[in-house]
This record gives sequence, structure tokens and C-alpha cells, in this order.
Amino acid sequence: MIKKHMYFIILILSTSIILLIISCSDDSSDEPTTLPAPILLEATAITTASFNISWIGSTVATQYLIDVATDDQFSTLLSNYNQFVITSESLQVTGLEDDTRYYVRLTASDGTITSEFSNMRSATTEFEFVPEPEPEVFLRDTAKFPVGVALQAGRLNGAYASRVSNEFSSITGEFEMKMSPIFQAEGSYNFTPGDALVSFAEANDMQVHGHALVWHNAVPSFVQNFSGSDEEFEQLIRTYIHDVVNHYKGKIISWDVVNEAFDDNGGNLRNSVFRQKLGDDYLAKCFQWAREADPDILLFYNDYNLFFDNSKLNAALAMVADFQQRGIPIDGFGFQAHIGINFPSETQIRSAVDKVVATGLQVHFSEVDIRINPNNDLTMPSSSRLQAQRAKYKEVVEIFSKIPKEQQFAITIWGLIDSQTWLIDFWGQPEWPLMFNNDLSPKPAHTGFAEGLME
Ligand code: G3I
Repeated sequence: MIKKHMYFIILILSTSIILLIISCSDDSSDEPTTLPAPILLEATAITTASFNISWIGSTVATQYLIDVATDDQFSTLLSNYNQFVITSESLQVTGLEDDTRYYVRLTASDGTITSEFSNMRSATTEFEFVPEPEPEVFLRDTAKFPVGVALQAGRLNGAYASRVSNEFSSITGEFEMKMSPIFQAEGSYNFTPGDALVSFAEANDMQVHGHALVWHNAVPSFVQNFSGSDEEFEQLIRTYIHDVVNHYKGKIISWDVVNEAFDDNGGNLRNSVFRQKLGDDYLAKCFQWAREADPDILLFYNDYNLFFDNSKLNAALAMVADFQQRGIPIDGFGFQAHIGINFPSETQIRSAVDKVVATGLQVHFSEVDIRINPNNDLTMPSSSRLQAQRAKYKEVVEIFSKIPKEQQFAITIWGLIDSQTWLIDFWGQPEWPLMFNNDLSPKPAHTGFAEGLME
């Protein structure tokens, strides 16, 4: 009996061992002989020059080989995407032509075996709008009034300088002729940067508008924190105005004597250091001091938001009326005109301008820029916004052109190329408010300005 059991146990054991050997035998017939082909998904994130593709690969694949072509037979493979090797399961296909259909396929590989081709997918890149170049019309050649630009002396080189001298007949220093860069200490002045602007203007038959003798935002600290008496402060500012106006006498045509004296909350007189130490009538004193230094210089008041802030406009007009009634010298009025494509309206602009024209003063649109991105919804200028900007520049020029000729002082654009606009730093967002691209080529805005001149 026992023998029988022994034989049975031996039989079971030997069968299990044989089965074990078989199951572990390196029977190459279990090795996969094919890899499943990847499954390509729809292309995504399609742009004018790229698209993304992804696929369902296989766990055994170690890499994928991708073909991209412009025909569905893959006879026109792109050189960069001919069996392009990648280990992940997605790819951004780049360096493509716009408005072109591309075809994609791929295989999987484990280093030895390569799968069949995947399904094919196609993607058509977006059409890239390439605007026609704007016509090259030099504004100074067609305008019947001075066309100005705000500049910084250090930028006046090469093609930049040529664009300025070809296009413009007037210059305003964006910074160099303000009190803070000029007034180093009592009796000490830095006229060098301003003189550079004047020299450039003289060499290019351009006028210079001085900006600005007195502005609460450009006050050197020794003036802002003046510790002497009010009489001594008055002597300090009178001497400053005399010396600066004297320095530029016969070289420039006009000054913004006082800039932005009225506030944004009802047009009240700002409580600047000038008002605190010279009294509420400090504006009249500054205009008189400037006239004492130069009997021929044109004396302007300059401010912003005057097209639509009626409180501020009325405060400025009241000052003008008071000056004219008292015989305080004033020759011109500056609308800074920092506006947008949709605001203020043509009606608002015309109404405000008409009120100043009625005073008989010369009118300066002194710091024109026209925002296209006030709501920060653009990362690049769109064609529609650029065309709206063109229309607004045309509108502004047409309004100015309807001012009586003897009262048309100038239109001055507050900067040359978009990347240099103060608005980017001020608002902390992208903006393209000016007439020239960063490569100095004219924008539709420039065409709009020229169209306004034709009316
Ligand atoms: O030139 C110096 C440079 O040497 C220095 O390294 C640098 C660092 O601080 O500052 C440079 O000066 C800057 C200057 O622009 C020139 O780029 C001043 O800091 C900066 O405050 C000055 O900003 C100007 C601003 O007025 C204040 O003066 C803007 O460019 C100018 O567009 C802006 O213009 C004003 C008008 O005068 C009045 N109406 C509003 C308009 C916008 O604020």
C-alpha cells in the first residue's frame, strides 16, 4: 500500500516540475512579435505656425517615431519631422507655415520591434494677417500746422533721428526741460540734455516747445523741502524761471509755464508746494516772471482730461478769463489729450476745444496718445483696434484742423514708438498708443493722422 502512495507522490511531483520547467522555459514564442500601433488624437492649440498632438501609446514602447508632411501620402515629409524620435506621448509641432494643412502619423518602437503606423490626423495652421505696409507720407510735408513729438535726447540716433526729422516740425522734451532734471541746486542748472534737443531741432528746421517750468510732479527735493521763508522761496522760483527762460530765449518758441495746476476732484487748485509758499495766485506770478525774461516767448497753460473733466476745464477757463481781465500774460492753452479709441467722444472733444477757441488763445494738443488696450484685454494689438486707432487719430486731426488757423499752435504726439510710451509703466500693462511700430515703420494711426490732414 505504502509503495503505491510513494509512486503516486513521485508522479505528482515530477509532473509539477515538468510543468514548471515548461512555464519558465524561454520559449521565445511568448515574446510579443508586434507592438500595438499608437492611436493619434485630434490636434490641439493650433496657431499660425504650430499645433499640438498627443496619442495613446503602449506600455512596452520605449519611443515613438513621428512623420509630418504636407500631403496625406507622406511624400513631402518635413525635414524636422521625418521619423522624429520622442519618448513622451505628446509633441508641439513647430516652425510651420501659416494657412497650411499638415498630416501626422507615427509608429511605436521598443528598440527592436516597430509597430504599424498609427491612424493619420491632419491640422491646418491659422491664416496670419500680414497688413500691407502703411503709405510713407511725411506729416510735416502735408500739415498746415506744426506736428510735434515728445522726445528724449538720448534716443536721437540713426534711423530714429531720421524718422523724427522727416515726420515732425516740432519737439517737446519728454523730460529734459522740466525743473527736476534742470534745477540741481540754487543757481545751478543742467541745461545739457535740453540743449541737445534744441540743437537737433535747429539742425532739422524744427521748433521747440518748452515743457514745463512749474509742475508739481517734477520738483527737485531741495525745492520740495525748502526750509527758508516764503519770500526766499519766491526769490528762488522767480530766479529759476528768469534763468531758464533766459537760457532758451530765441532758441525755443513757447513754454508750458504751469502744468496741471487743478486737481481731478472738482478742479480745485492743487495744494502743491508752489501754492503753499507762493499763495493761490502763484500761477499769475509764474506767467509774469516768464514774460519778464522773454517778451516774445509764447506762454501756455497745460493740463490733462480737459476734453471731458468739465470741472477742471472750467477752472482752467476761469483762470484764463481772470488773467485776460487782469492783464496777466498768457498766449496758449494745452490739451494734453491722453485719450483712448472710444473715449472721449468727438462731441466732447469739439465742445471743450470750442470753449478754449472762444478765449482767443492758441490751442496745443500737447501730449496726444490714443490707447487701444484700456481694459488690458490685449497681449498683441489686433487689426480692429489698430483701425479704430487710425480713425481716432483722424478725428483728432480733423477737429484741430477746424480751429481758426491763427489759433492752431501744434499737435504733439507724446512719443515716437509704442514701446517707449509712458503708459506702459503708468498702467503696468501692454499698450500701443502711438503712430510708429518699434521698427519705426508707420502704423495705421499714422495713416489716420495723414488722412485727417487731407480733409
Ligand atoms: O533720465 C533718467 C535716467 O538717467 C535715470 O537713470 C532713470 C531712473 O530713474 O530716470 C530717468 O528719468 C526718467 C524720465 O522719465 C526719462 O525717462 C524719470 O525717472 C521719469 O520719472 C520720467 O517720466 C516722465 C514723467 O512725465 C515724469 O517726468 C515720462 O517719461 C513722461 O512721459 C511723463 O510725461 C508727463 C508730462 O510731462 C505731463 N503730462 C503727463 C505726462 C505723463 O505722465
